Amino acid sequence: VTGNLAPTPPMGWNTWNTFQTRIDEPLLKGMVDAYVSSGMRDAGYRYFVLDDGWMTMERDSNGNLVADPKKFPNGMKAFADYVHSKGLKFGIYNCAGNKTCAGYPGTRGHEYQDARLYASWGVDFLKYDWCNTDSLNAREAYITMSSALKETGRPILFSLCEWGNHQPWLWAKGVGEQYRTTGDITANFTADKHMGTWSALSVLTILDKQPAIRKYNGPNHWNDPDMLEVGNGMSYAEDKAHFSLWCMLAAPLAAGNDLRKMSAQTQAILTNKEVIDIDQDELGIAAYPVKLADSVQLWVKPLKNNQLALCFLNRSSSVQKINIKWSDLDITNAEAGSSIKFAENKYALRDLWLKKNVGTTKAAFKQDLPSHDVVMLKLTKL
Ligand code: DGJ
Repeated sequence: VTGNLAPTPPMGWNTWNTFQTRIDEPLLKGMVDAYVSSGMRDAGYRYFVLDDGWMTMERDSNGNLVADPKKFPNGMKAFADYVHSKGLKFGIYNCAGNKTCAGYPGTRGHEYQDARLYASWGVDFLKYDWCNTDSLNAREAYITMSSALKETGRPILFSLCEWGNHQPWLWAKGVGEQYRTTGDITANFTADKHMGTWSALSVLTILDKQPAIRKYNGPNHWNDPDMLEVGNGMSYAEDKAHFSLWCMLAAPLAAGNDLRKMSAQTQAILTNKEVIDIDQDELGIAAYPVKLADSVQLWVKPLKNNQLALCFLNRSSSVQKINIKWSDLDITNAEAGSSIKFAENKYALRDLWLKKNVGTTKAAFKQDLPSHDVVMLKLTKL
């Protein structure tokens, strides 16, 4: 929340999607090491974020939060130092309410005290959740914590996790660098998962919420469609589609898989530099969808230098044929203010997953697109 902490969407790794509260220092040191050896750091990922579950169940006699000594026997400062020693930035989690979602002490009433503690540990990123917040005003609660972080004098990126119910896209710019837009993601491409009153959302459910708020996205105030589930159980095509679409949205990229054990395919997805470059394009424009057929969408993302990223998505459970005559294709979007005329302009095409040049828009574009798969192209004017 100080200055220009997120000119492009923040990239990192977070404990939650794989480990929930089952975290400790030996496990996490192994993860930090794997972050570096797997090439994640070199691909541009920077933050290493502990989610819920790092604390003891009570504050100490001075009201300070305490890192669970069973999980972090050397304390949190030592672990933060380890993260920093590998050229990474360190993130931590708490909640605006009285307790975190997993029942640990929340920050309500301790905002300035907790911010000072994080700064003393060398924290660079705070994810701030929204459980147990009865009667709290969301905007005010997030502004209070944002002010507390600023007051420390340490640059700490502020990640709002309010799930979109209070429309943070309307007020979070300048309060934090990113804000969740929906409830939690689950590693399923099409089906939401319902557990009592709580639901976890599929990739497509979250994706479909994004066009309505895409115009609020931009440098230092990113719409956050939640963390990545790449490597957590979906098919290769689905993981590739999920990652491509999050990059098309200019979303924060927080991997959430076990970095020590990822497959070559998972690693190739998460570290595809050409796809990451689409996410990190400095204009920070989120893609908009164009319907090509009942189950085929074309997502369009304007890039700097009049380049364009296109992502064809097959939402159906069967193979779909793409057969496009570029000059007939209308991908203009009034609200996005873009007018991309393939009849007048010709582009060179690069397939970002094949990592190959695949001709130009002078020829027709034909391809069979498997279920839940994508073709992702970068277009450069000829
Ligand atoms: C809800 C958030 O949306 C999740 O991302 C995660 O932080 C959990 N709470 C932790 O309890």
